Amino acid sequence: MPEQTPEARILELTNKLNYLNYQYYQNSVSEVSDYEFDQMLLELQKLEEENPQFRSDNSPTQRVGGTITKHFPTVKHKYPMLSLSNTYSEDEVREFDTRVRKVTGDYVEYICELKFDGVAMSLTYTNGALTAGVTRGDGTRGDDITPNVRTIRTVPLHLQGEDVPAEVEVRGEVFMPFHVFEELNKEREEIGEALMANPRNATSGTLKLQDSKEVARRRLSMYAYGLLSTPTLFESHSQSLEALQRWGLNVSSSWRKCSTIEEVMAFIHEWETKRFELPIATDGIVVKVNSYAQQEELGYTAKSPRWAMAYKYKAMEAVTELLGIEYNVGRTGAVTPVALMKPVLLAGTTVKRASLHNANEIERLGLMVHDFVTVEKGGEIIPKVTAVKTELRPANAEPIVYPSVCPSCGTALIRHEGEANHYCPNEKGCPPQVKGKLEHFISRKAMNILSLGEGKIELLVEQGLVTSPDHLYDLTYDTLFGLKKTFVNEETGITRVVTFQKTTVENILKALEKSKEAPFDRVLFALGIRFVGNTVAQKLAQYFRNIDALRAATEEELIAVPEIGGRIAASVREYFQDLSNVHLIERLRFHGLQLDLGEIAIIEPASDKLAGLTFVVSGVFAGYSREELQDTIIANGGKIVSSISKKLSYLVAGEKMGPSKLEKATSLGVKIVTEDEFNKMLA
Ligand code: IVH
Repeated sequence: MPEQTPEARILELTNKLNYLNYQYYQNSVSEVSDYEFDQMLLELQKLEEENPQFRSDNSPTQRVGGTITKHFPTVKHKYPMLSLSNTYSEDEVREFDTRVRKVTGDYVEYICELKFDGVAMSLTYTNGALTAGVTRGDGTRGDDITPNVRTIRTVPLHLQGEDVPAEVEVRGEVFMPFHVFEELNKEREEIGEALMANPRNATSGTLKLQDSKEVARRRLSMYAYGLLSTPTLFESHSQSLEALQRWGLNVSSSWRKCSTIEEVMAFIHEWETKRFELPIATDGIVVKVNSYAQQEELGYTAKSPRWAMAYKYKAMEAVTELLGIEYNVGRTGAVTPVALMKPVLLAGTTVKRASLHNANEIERLGLMVHDFVTVEKGGEIIPKVTAVKTELRPANAEPIVYPSVCPSCGTALIRHEGEANHYCPNEKGCPPQVKGKLEHFISRKAMNILSLGEGKIELLVEQGLVTSPDHLYDLTYDTLFGLKKTFVNEETGITRVVTFQKTTVENILKALEKSKEAPFDRVLFALGIRFVGNTVAQKLAQYFRNIDALRAATEEELIAVPEIGGRIAASVREYFQDLSNVHLIERLRFHGLQLDLGEIAIIEPASDKLAGLTFVVSGVFAGYSREELQDTIIANGGKIVSSISKKLSYLVAGEKMGPSKLEKATSLGVKIVTEDEFNKMLA
């Protein structure tokens, strides 16, 4: 690389980091790994220290992070939200300890915590009630997003306890658990929406949504890790953590008091791999001096406290060769490029495939076949390609030519304006789309015909028995009985035989019959209209009541429905303009599926049989969705609470309920009832 003057390099890094910050905070896009970002920031910090005359006012090192979003009111933080100085080096953690001890003397205690990878949050409680939830913004001013914060289940709306002060500020991290992130992305994939990059971006994007209902649906959570008040209420950070926990905040139990730097190191090492067992993303650990008096003594730099430091784990990454690209076609026809790589060991698993999202991503990375690429694994299941090692590019590197026709059926691909994905328009004839649509139709949230899962649809499609959902209802005992297929797992070589024997066939026919009772909104969702996920399907069904009214609706009428935008409206119109879809609906009607929601149900208290009782509902139920069961409890005078405590009257336990809940309820002596027992309580 040619020598650059410090001035030019400072300018280059400033611009680059400002741009990346903007992309990250405003557009929820992270173009580089955290490690690369931090390395650039460190380089800039060092250059600025050596050449203070070139430091600009808008240098990313002068700011704590983020920019302010326009849509929510901006408020000034009572206590600025600082950041932590961080390091990837164990030696620097030891140096931190030495610096601390120079000021505090030899007696010092540390609190080690996990560094949760989400979005920093400030909560204000006034007389015990949550009065504000504010993002960090630029550290001095943040966005007041209280309505969205209120939807986070682990943020108490009222603090509990005798010693709750008149005003207190709680600091913590809002995050999206991995399983929620994966479920939401799966849903987005099903309706042809762009996927969210990682749980942290999903969290920051979600917190900025205007619609707090949608925020609630995204099931964010929060861990509290700090307490601020004037005057200070406690003598140490650990006492604050205990108080937060007592008052009802969600404090991760992973924190530990350490009195020597060796204990701190042991904590760092212990969590290096153990953190991957957690249901949420963490990217390091935070070491904090426990005593507030000592914290005061140590003080602050302009950006961060001198009494704390973050040690960040290096992202698990590996370099390997890109062998080629596979193009997968999904249910909606969206084409997803997948990187096929020379197998490489990464965080204990062999990785050979990674999603590349779309053509833009390939272009952004500047990827060529036979390139050496960096593959990174966060906590998410799917690894990602984060960079190309251009300096290692071999002579035989080949440019990637994005296909112009469908890799499965050969139809010319199309790209809608403003969208990143290519689509195969051959909805009715493209095999993966046909199969995908049927799989969607039978899925749990749609028609719930799970006895047709696990390869059975594939078999029916291959046999030419079914190409459209209505064909399922033509199936008879005689056509199904005796069908057989052997599946071979390419990786393990293990074979699995699917045979349609008496019980299997009877179960399938029974499930098909039962699915005719599924309400209209589920049928509508099952049709798989692009952009019509289950929430949208519910809204449309409730508004139009039946399929004929929905079909007759103009685009204007569709847009008039709360929360239905132009994109959904156009997609619904397009669906009904296709006569083969109209034909499908008529065939489903003929088979007796519910295409009408019936009279408007007025929910009124059904009884007061459950008055004075509190309930926690957990697991999966045969006769109710979880929401329906909760509504039934409320309609009969009962109250739903979010967590299991001694005071809880009943835990209604469904199938597949988490063992930890069951254990907690049992240990606290809470009464546990099954769905049947609950029904008897109402009878
Ligand atoms: S203490 C003075 N504790 O890491 C700063 N921060 O740069 C006090 N974070 O975005 C922060 N886990 O939101 C603290 N256990 C933890 C944390 C934590 C995650 C985040 C924080 C901020 C960043 C610090």
